[in-house]
Amino acid sequence: MKLLLKNAHIDGIRYYDTYRKNGGYTVAEKALRTMTPDAVTEEVKKSGLRGRGGAGFPTGMKWSFLAKPEGVPRYLVCNADESEPGTFKDRYLMETIPHLLIEGLLISSFALGSNNTYIYIRGEYAWVAEILEQAVAEAKANGWLGKNILGTGFDCMVHVHVGAGAYICGEETALLESLEGKRGNPRIKPPFPAIKGVWNCPTVVNNVETLATIVPVIESGGEAYAKIGIGKSTGTKLISACGNINKPGVYEIELKVSVEEFLYSDEYCGGIANGKRLKACIPGGSSVPILPANLLLKTAKGEQRLMTYESLSDGGFETGSMLGSGGFIVYDEDQCIVRNTMTLARFYHHESCGQCSPCREGTGWLEKILHHIEYGKGKMKDIDLLWSVQSHIEGNTICPLGDAAAWPVAAAIRHFRDEFEWHIENPYEAQRRNYGLAHYADPMEAVA
Ligand SMILES: Cc1cc2nc3c(=O)[nH]c(=O)nc-3n(C[C@H](O)[C@H](O)[C@H](O)COP(=O)(O)O)c2cc1C
Ligand code: SF4
Repeated sequence: MKLLLKNAHIDGIRYYDTYRKNGGYTVAEKALRTMTPDAVTEEVKKSGLRGRGGAGFPTGMKWSFLAKPEGVPRYLVCNADESEPGTFKDRYLMETIPHLLIEGLLISSFALGSNNTYIYIRGEYAWVAEILEQAVAEAKANGWLGKNILGTGFDCMVHVHVGAGAYICGEETALLESLEGKRGNPRIKPPFPAIKGVWNCPTVVNNVETLATIVPVIESGGEAYAKIGIGKSTGTKLISACGNINKPGVYEIELKVSVEEFLYSDEYCGGIANGKRLKACIPGGSSVPILPANLLLKTAKGEQRLMTYESLSDGGFETGSMLGSGGFIVYDEDQCIVRNTMTLARFYHHESCGQCSPCREGTGWLEKILHHIEYGKGKMKDIDLLWSVQSHIEGNTICPLGDAAAWPVAAAIRHFRDEFEWHIENPYEAQRRNYGLAHYADPMEAVA
């Protein structure tokens, strides 16, 4: 089922004329001409839409928290930072059908009373920022942005703000700091952005996909949208699939497809590449726990695992994971869990903003210990040390980056402890397997 990408195959859909000819902006017209801002929010609440940025917080509820003091501007900020390894679905949406996002932003800005709405996009997406700039200019030239839109008295301008390229600027309060021109350090909460956001004004931060989804929600109505999907996982979701699969790419799924179907059917990933066996998968972007093959396809209770918020997290972190941002990273039987975990640990260490000691110091230790194990210098007690370090980060930091650094390590040890042990007991073989040479050359020696 396709709601967001249903027109993505149409030639020229990136441009205003083609988007408009294919029904574009009719939903915005419906919202602005026939609905009140509160009625739009009501539909979003009824739809059960949950934020697509990773945490899955109900969007309508978030909107209803927005403070509305007299004489103070309110802001909507679209989070297009998308730096989570394995996640590239927002990029595809913005590159392919940018006007869907602009239309979603217009409707959402109307609902929230935001006259100046920002898209914060990561610096590495420079070419996508240009596409967005062009779409904004086209929308303005055709009367969908600017003053007195459709004669309704509602003014709205969308501004594209390019970040400098930092993962932490995807965390909503770091993003707001960066938008204000400061270093992107997460803020201590409360106050939450809905009360004090950008420039101390009430602010809603939503993900690109969440805001684009407002268009089909208002088009069909909240109740109809809520019938798509299953349980509290309503609607469709974009999944970016990568790793050892036959058909990497961005897929829109109804939130009830089974993991097995998603992984093996030709409609989606097309199975494991080169006839190999599935070893493991990180189902929701690099921050969520890895699942071994047996727990990926079925829950610990033996039920079929579905691509939904609830099913993927069934069993908690003992036997489950999370849907997260929808970055589906597949590992075949040849992948080394130690090496991959070390790569992730290096990423989180590099991206830690350094404000909290458990994250600043702990991510460094995780990388260092994993590096020792990977390069043949590990000791058995290092596995327990790794466990101890990650457990001291989790829950003890200002923002969830600390958790995001701890969870992959914890899950790797939980499910693949034997592989860590094998690495430590067989350093020579491990080197040969990962690097194809019988050597102990250490490319990271200088930073170890
Ligand atoms: C370290 C870190 C990075 C994040 N990166 C992103 C991101 O790139 N895009 C995004 O939408 N949300 C990201 N988030 C989540 C945001 O803080 C926020 O929850 C989200 O933008 C809210 O939008 P939603 O409710 O529509 O999901 C990140 C969170 C953390 C802790
Ligand atoms: S958890 Fe890490 S990234 Fe987040 S505020 Fe603390 S030091 Fe910075």
